[in-house]
Amino acid sequence: MTLTALGLPAIRRDAEEHPADMPRTGPLVDTFGRVATDLRVSLTDRCNLRCTYCMPAEGLDWLPGDELLTRDELARLLTLAVTRLGITCVRFTGGEPLLYRGLEDVVAVVAALRPRPEIALTTNGVSLARRARALADAGLDRVNVSLDSVDAVQFAAITRRDRLDDVLDGLAAAAAAGLGPVKVNAVLDPEGGLADAVELLDYCLRYGYQLRIIEQMPLDAGHLWRRDASLGADEIYTALAARFDLSPDPAPRGSAPAQLWQVNGGPATVGIIASVSHAFCAACDRTRLTADGQIRSCLFAAEETDLRALLRNGADDDALESVWRAAMWRKAAGHGINDPGFVQPQRPMSAIGG
Ligand code: 5AD
Ligand code: SF4
Repeated sequence: MTLTALGLPAIRRDAEEHPADMPRTGPLVDTFGRVATDLRVSLTDRCNLRCTYCMPAEGLDWLPGDELLTRDELARLLTLAVTRLGITCVRFTGGEPLLYRGLEDVVAVVAALRPRPEIALTTNGVSLARRARALADAGLDRVNVSLDSVDAVQFAAITRRDRLDDVLDGLAAAAAAGLGPVKVNAVLDPEGGLADAVELLDYCLRYGYQLRIIEQMPLDAGHLWRRDASLGADEIYTALAARFDLSPDPAPRGSAPAQLWQVNGGPATVGIIASVSHAFCAACDRTRLTADGQIRSCLFAAEETDLRALLRNGADDDALESVWRAAMWRKAAGHGINDPGFVQPQRPMSAIGG
């Protein structure tokens, strides 16, 4: 097993002692010298699935409408991120981003920005089949579809909805619309997950999708996550290696969270995202915007920075830029999941954006 941890960044300038060191222009940097170029935008906290590791069966208390960014507010922040903060990739997430009305219009706004960023979408795929073409036409470049099992019974048990065929149709439509490379994100069920992983890889190899298996992180609304009850990257690798010939992918990993293996001699690959057991915080290049206009420097950040209030109080772009920069400047070294004093964020994954 050759999983490597990128670990934590080593050298830090003290954010409090050296606030004046924060650059006012140029890339979005933190005190460890990491540069954020990848913006994750959660468009809604709502979802049409109820994955057991994410939400309770009855759903959650959704964010009230007046707290959500309006389309104009969102367009303004996206424009600022690309034109002033050096964001080169914008990824829309949720909840389920296809539930956001006018997603195609927002994609088109971003596609018109210069320099033109890459535009990606992380979706559960349920309603992707009828949207893929219009999204591609609007400027969407690629999709990641969340799919934890290709067994209909297991899929329904995990998501509490009988929608496997819709998701598979969504994947096919995305590939047909040129939204590739189509990636499949899987979070494995602690019970049947290793068998699901083997079936998923078979399926993805057949259709030319790139499978990436993600270790489950403590981001469930019920705060029920237990390390010993979730599958680790080593176990996942071992289960796949028993059925497929895996060799380390020679391509440089860069800031990609997935460690890739070539399958059966390539060119197909499978990725394992070992967020918990082999953290990659040192290579993190992300900044996050929630549907209610909060900046998060990390999925696990204890602190959020409220851009919505600033927007609604008439802040100009210089002020918004400087507050966004300051939020990222203070970014912590790592997620701290493995520290004894770790505290799970208040917001669940569905309200942060994956
Ligand atoms: N841990 C890891 N991944 C998660 N996702 C949702 N909840 C978790 C969690 N607790 C994944 C989804 C989707 C992406 C948005 O995040 O499966 O692929
Ligand atoms: Fe919806 Fe994603 Fe949460 Fe599943 S994990 S309920 S698809 S937001």
